[in-house]
Amino acid sequence: MAVPSKLVLLIAVLVASCTTDTEALKHKKTHIQFYMENIVGGPKPTAVQVARRLSNYTGSDPIAAMFGSVSVMDNPLTVTPNPNSTVIGRAQGIYAMASQHNELSLLMTLTFGFISGPYNGSSFSVVGRNPVMNEVREMPIVGGTGIFRLARGYCFARTYSMYQMDMYQMDSVIGYNATILHYNVTV
Ligand SMILES: *[C@@H]1O[C@H](CO)[C@@H](O)[C@H](O)[C@H]1NC(C)=O
Ligand SMILES: *[C@@H]1O[C@H](CO)[C@@H](O)[C@H](O)[C@H]1NC(C)=O
Ligand SMILES: *[C@@H]1O[C@H](CO)[C@@H](O)[C@H](O)[C@H]1NC(C)=O
Ligand SMILES: *[C@@H]1O[C@H](CO)[C@@H](O)[C@H](O)[C@H]1NC(C)=O
Repeated sequence: MAVPSKLVLLIAVLVASCTTDTEALKHKKTHIQFYMENIVGGPKPTAVQVARRLSNYTGSDPIAAMFGSVSVMDNPLTVTPNPNSTVIGRAQGIYAMASQHNELSLLMTLTFGFISGPYNGSSFSVVGRNPVMNEVREMPIVGGTGIFRLARGYCFARTYSMYQMDMYQMDSVIGYNATILHYNVTV
């Protein structure tokens, strides 16, 4: 029985697209480390509080007092903890004080965008819980752009240094170690 030529063509196309997909779905693993400068005080803050609870807190628990505050950040990412070292990107996003009891914990929603070096123009995004007083905090990497398309991964944040600016806020330098699986997708 003769195989219809359209069917042959269809199979050829399917085989071709499968080959392409297999190639595209080979993941790469990238490890990056950098420091994030979170400056809340002084004339040029990089993180600003934009909202807090409307009702005044009357208790004595400092964590409960901070619950509900929301800040927006545009923090430089540097190669060393020194804020004057080379800036390789910016962390733009929102963090909210999301715990009422026991430990200070933030909900982080941020995108690390790179502006120089091998990742220039690419970004990856983090959404997760950040119990900031713990020595090491792990947060999930949920996606990315550019070379980090289809990213999945995790990062560890460690507070390198911090300075109390007022009763509730601190300038800090946070070290990040990120491990990212991403794919070589070009279209
Ligand atoms: C909270 O306290 C501030 C300053 O003490 C006051 O101006 C404001 O009206 C209070 N808000 C509420 C909802 O009670
Ligand atoms: C960064 O540079 C500024 C301005 O030159 C200087 O005042 C500051 O001490 C430097 N900071 C560090 C940590 O080197
Ligand atoms: C980063 O990429 C932008 C856009 O492609 C380009 O204009 C810029 O020169 C690059 N910067 C560095 C430091 O490579
Ligand atoms: C990343 O992890 C390594 C190994 O634990 C550590 O030596 C390094 O200081 C970490 N980097 C940052 C920026 O936290």
